[in-house]
Amino acid sequence: MPRRAKISVIGAGNVGATCAHWAASKELGDVVLVDIPDRVGVAQGKAIDLACCGPIEGFDASVIGTSDYKDIAGSDVVILTAGLPRKPGMSRDDLIETNVKIVRSVSEKIAEYAPDSVIIVVSNPLDAMVFTAWKASGFEHSKVVGQAGALDVARFSTFIAWEIGCSVEDVQALLLGGHGDDMVPLVRLTSVHGVPVSDLLSAEKIQACVDRAKVGGGEIVKLMGTSAYYAPASGSVQMAEAIVKDKKRIIPCAAYLSGQFGVDGYFVGVPAVLGAGGVEKVIEFKMAEDEQNLFNESAQHVMDLVATVQKMFPDLA
Ligand code: NAI
Ligand code: 2OP
Repeated sequence: MPRRAKISVIGAGNVGATCAHWAASKELGDVVLVDIPDRVGVAQGKAIDLACCGPIEGFDASVIGTSDYKDIAGSDVVILTAGLPRKPGMSRDDLIETNVKIVRSVSEKIAEYAPDSVIIVVSNPLDAMVFTAWKASGFEHSKVVGQAGALDVARFSTFIAWEIGCSVEDVQALLLGGHGDDMVPLVRLTSVHGVPVSDLLSAEKIQACVDRAKVGGGEIVKLMGTSAYYAPASGSVQMAEAIVKDKKRIIPCAAYLSGQFGVDGYFVGVPAVLGAGGVEKVIEFKMAEDEQNLFNESAQHVMDLVATVQKMFPDLA
């Protein structure tokens, strides 16, 4: 008899609870929401509340809240959102020391209790946290991936669609690099129903969309006092869906590179095929010289962040 997929979400805060929401409402499988013992009531309360949407929304999925990692056994995917979010005035990089400790301890638990899962890391600073989760879990690099590109490209596409006055579904965009303000939206490869965006919008308007996408997270932090969660969770669940349904979707995400795009030994945002095996293939293509230069700068930032992690925690080298 086919079994339901199982998706565990670590961290029952804004992003984690919203991941649980999208995963249950899309009926991707059973959902386990994990938080620290001090906040287990929050995880349990949100789980019951969400489960009670089933009769209204028409989904069958068990949703439980827990602080016991035994409950994540058998997970196909674990979405790791545990950690501090940024406050106004903070960069994602300011979170590094606290979040490495959290991501490291959670990854060790995932390896112990859900050794066959694929880990989708969301905690910030994203690119360094994916590296931390990979080292601490001991998983194959294909089984660890970071969510950033799905969100960043969705922001870029949304701003383009708003500018043109068309459906967001008709925008196809591509974005590479780390999850920082130096991410690289690729205008040359962005089109609207097959028409190059440069044929539809002025260079100034396109640049405004690029700039807004790059600081899209910061714009929301300034407005709300904490970081975004609807779209980050939506991007994470898009990745989880590709994995649990073995869809082989190409989604930009922080994937391990072993020479592609000139990077070796780091997780950086690139388009990748996501399926049951996790990151099954990185889609490599030739960038224009200016694109490659911007990508190199962004990748260097990722390498510097990883070096900072390794300086603080030499065992993660
Ligand atoms: P939040 O503060 O609402 O939730 C974080 C949750 O993690 C809390 O419930 C906390 O109790 C829990 N937690 C802390 N330590 C834990 C541990 N050891 N084990 C289990 N749970 C633990 O924060 P929010 O807004 O949900 O953000 C979570 C993380 O995701 C932050 O690091 C944030 O910067 C990052 N983020 C990343 C995005 C991306 O695109 N990659 C987008 C948005 C947020
Ligand atoms: C975002 O981009 C803060 O990484 C988070 O919204």
